[in-house]
Amino acid sequence: MQRLDPDKYENDPELEKIRKERNYNWMDIITVSREELPDYEEKLKSFYEEHLHLDEEVRYVLEGSGYFEVRDDKDRWIRILVEKGDLITLPAGSYHRFTLDEQNYIKAMRLFTGQPTWEAHFRPAENLEIRKQYLEFLVQSA
Ligand code: LAC
Ligand code: NI
Repeated sequence: MQRLDPDKYENDPELEKIRKERNYNWMDIITVSREELPDYEEKLKSFYEEHLHLDEEVRYVLEGSGYFEVRDDKDRWIRILVEKGDLITLPAGSYHRFTLDEQNYIKAMRLFTGQPTWEAHFRPAENLEIRKQYLEFLVQSA
């Protein structure tokens, strides 16, 4: 996780550098709140279902906060609080889920390389090549 200054996200050389280096050529801003997100209930429900993606998940919190939950090496959940200014990346092929906290509000930049589909593969997804690659990467970095 990295920290940036979200009050200048529209013109931030540090953010620009990260985007260039990691080739995050696509971005948008999503607000997760009852008022602003269409199909709020349903979306929250699917965010909180354990899943993985074929690509890295990158989120930069501009306002509000929430929890990402990821698995440790014993398959136990680890809860990560993300707050204003945090930039988090979840590796492709890693299981995770997301939920709001009691504020019920987060505004985040979604960064991506190429054209996103936001496709989630719910667990179990052990047969996917990306899952195998991720597990292999874990073994090698242990
Ligand atoms: C997503 C997050 C919420 O897939 O995990 O958008
Ligand atoms: Ni996800």
